[in-house]
Amino acid sequence: MGPRDEPPRLPEGGFAAWSSDRLAMARRGAEECGDVWQLEPGVYVAAAAGPCEAVLRRAQDFPKAPSPLFPPLKRSRSKRSGGAPTPEERAHAHAARMRGLRAQAVAARIGEIAPGTARFADQWPTDQDVEVLPLVRHALAEIGVSFLFSEDAPALLPRAAQLFLAREVLVRPSRWIWPRWIPTPARRFRTRQQVAFTDALRPVVRRRRSSGHLGDDVLGQMLRPSPHYGLLPEEAVLDTLPGITVATFETPSRAAGWILLHLARHPWAADRVAAEAASLPMDPAATTSAHLGDLRFTQAVVSEVLRLYPPSWLLTRRAPRQTRLADYTIDAGSTVLVCPYTAHRDPREFSEPDLFRPERWLEEPGASAGSAKPGVFLSFGTGPHGCEGAALAMTVLTLLTAHTARRHHVSEPPGPEPTYRVATLEGLATVGLRLRATPRG
Ligand code: HEM
Repeated sequence: MGPRDEPPRLPEGGFAAWSSDRLAMARRGAEECGDVWQLEPGVYVAAAAGPCEAVLRRAQDFPKAPSPLFPPLKRSRSKRSGGAPTPEERAHAHAARMRGLRAQAVAARIGEIAPGTARFADQWPTDQDVEVLPLVRHALAEIGVSFLFSEDAPALLPRAAQLFLAREVLVRPSRWIWPRWIPTPARRFRTRQQVAFTDALRPVVRRRRSSGHLGDDVLGQMLRPSPHYGLLPEEAVLDTLPGITVATFETPSRAAGWILLHLARHPWAADRVAAEAASLPMDPAATTSAHLGDLRFTQAVVSEVLRLYPPSWLLTRRAPRQTRLADYTIDAGSTVLVCPYTAHRDPREFSEPDLFRPERWLEEPGASAGSAKPGVFLSFGTGPHGCEGAALAMTVLTLLTAHTARRHHVSEPPGPEPTYRVATLEGLATVGLRLRATPRG
């Protein structure tokens, strides 16, 4: 191989074909060009597990751009607030959040999470076709915001809903791409909502600190001094929380849409989930991590749906310097798209990869989305920017699936009309999905 080995390109590829059907193009690229291919000059796609994992792990060669959705707010540097957070403070904030989000912390709070998932199933209007994503999003927002802020959640929930709306408006496709610095109406709305959320959270932070009751939730973890960094300044606590708040329910509700659709399409799997869920306590607040551990098939359903339809199906990285990837040269300044969607449909990794077969997760002892074949299951990413909320998401989605199947038969509305549209631009989603719940006898 020479020093400038270009990844192959599709004969009629390019952005035009890509924007007309991204999923189909991603599959064609992987099938016809191989594990790394080129969409346009300087835009590469990592299509198989090996190169995907390499890109996500090699964060020096392939850094992640900061999220433009909720950029740090411009503030005057007051002594009390501490000004914009430094990289050290961000690292501290990340470590503190992870103390509240890691698997053990989530397991300890299952009794707080389960009532929200049971309520979703109880409140689903039965015997009629309903658009499910708004219902699911509302339920998951209540759970997520409570997980972050406990008893302070009710005051913050309406603000969180507004943040979500701001995000929706911002990512809506538009005919023009405005430079980052132009304050378009969508960006002004986003900033107003971000300020409103932060302003609602600030008194909570001050009250908890001055009372000494820091709380056992994620915010409480961020307010505790760390032996290494000391106390986090207020702005460093507030800075990332709008993004984390939306993350607790936005991607999970996309995942839940796909899961509910699979319950409708595979009644045998729904029946098996319902049978398993019969062992859950009648009072959901009494649910423990042992109960969750017993929902092995339900967890397998969640993992299998996340494998087939990873909500974050395409992750973006840059290559600031020339580098190598799987025997190819990647030019300086190029974009690398990491594609869990095609990596998960690779027959070398998953037999009959297009089939919905939850049992595959039960065949290997101890296998689950988090543990089986590290680096092959990429729905939560991997490496230094891997998902912070994977344990929370798996727990919430497993309980939501179990409670829904225990209570209802789920079905698609009859008739030829499509019940949803597959969106691919900002994650893989079942937009407009309508389903019907019929109470189980
Ligand atoms: C089914 C649900 C979820 C899926 C499929 C998912 C997926 C992902 C993926 C693929 C990434 C990596 C992005 C990249 O490498 O560019 C990521 C990052 C992240 N996720 Fe999740 N996520 C989910 C739920 C959550 C939840 C519940 C939280 C709540 C805390 C969360 C918080 C985050 C954060 C903060 C990051 C950024 C990490 C970083 O950049 O260092 N996610 N997620």
